[in-house]
Amino acid sequence: MIALFSERISMYRIAPSILAANFAKLGEEITDVIASGADIIHFDVMDNHYVPNLTIGPLICEAIRPLTKAVIDVHLMVDPVDRIIPDFAKAGANIISFHPEASNHIDRTIGLIKEQGCQAGMVFNPATPLHYLDHVLDKLDLVLIMSVNPGFGGQSFIPEALTKLKAARKRIDASGKDIMLEIDGGVKVDNIAEIARAGADTFVAGSAIYNAAKDSDPNHYDTVLAALRAELAKA
Ligand code: DX5
Ligand code: ZN
Repeated sequence: MIALFSERISMYRIAPSILAANFAKLGEEITDVIASGADIIHFDVMDNHYVPNLTIGPLICEAIRPLTKAVIDVHLMVDPVDRIIPDFAKAGANIISFHPEASNHIDRTIGLIKEQGCQAGMVFNPATPLHYLDHVLDKLDLVLIMSVNPGFGGQSFIPEALTKLKAARKRIDASGKDIMLEIDGGVKVDNIAEIARAGADTFVAGSAIYNAAKDSDPNHYDTVLAALRAELAKA
């Protein structure tokens, strides 16, 4: 029993989104969260076209790559998507995820990511149906369910995402493949256990981690990551 319990706990991955980090000291913001036990760096790429915001590109990915051995999980909110994939692979991305609406040829985009030596993820907006998985699930390494509309950090969790997570979990389990199920948007200490119960194993959290009480708590990343893990232990 104990072994099963600890296996379940250790399968959960926490992925701080650096969108909410202080960009004036980004390197430190990354090494600090990893030192506090975060598993993955979530890297949000926005193009002011697919989403109404503009963020960071391959140059920043390349700059942070030497700072950590942690997986860099690149979430591409860009349209068109194919042209920029090789640039992120060269910049050291480990996982590259894209929105199906931003690709004219989904199977080709997945193939392109894998040819570049990266793991491939597909991202589902709140109103995007899971049927995009029908013919390609076996080729994916990650399914990312958006629990906010993409474009900004600090939005509220959309509860319908729980239903979609459950449906995605069923599809992944039926496939028999080792595919990560990630949730992104509005993940907090007070909802992460419920999200885990709906089937997620990988949790993006931006504002919950980076906007934690930094001034009052010198160990703020330790504190918030411990709080998130304590909730996951209850899931
Ligand atoms: C939104 C991004 C998210 C965002 C999450 O488009 O994909 O990764 O940074 O931020 P929080 O956790 O603050 O909702
Ligand atoms: Zn994201």
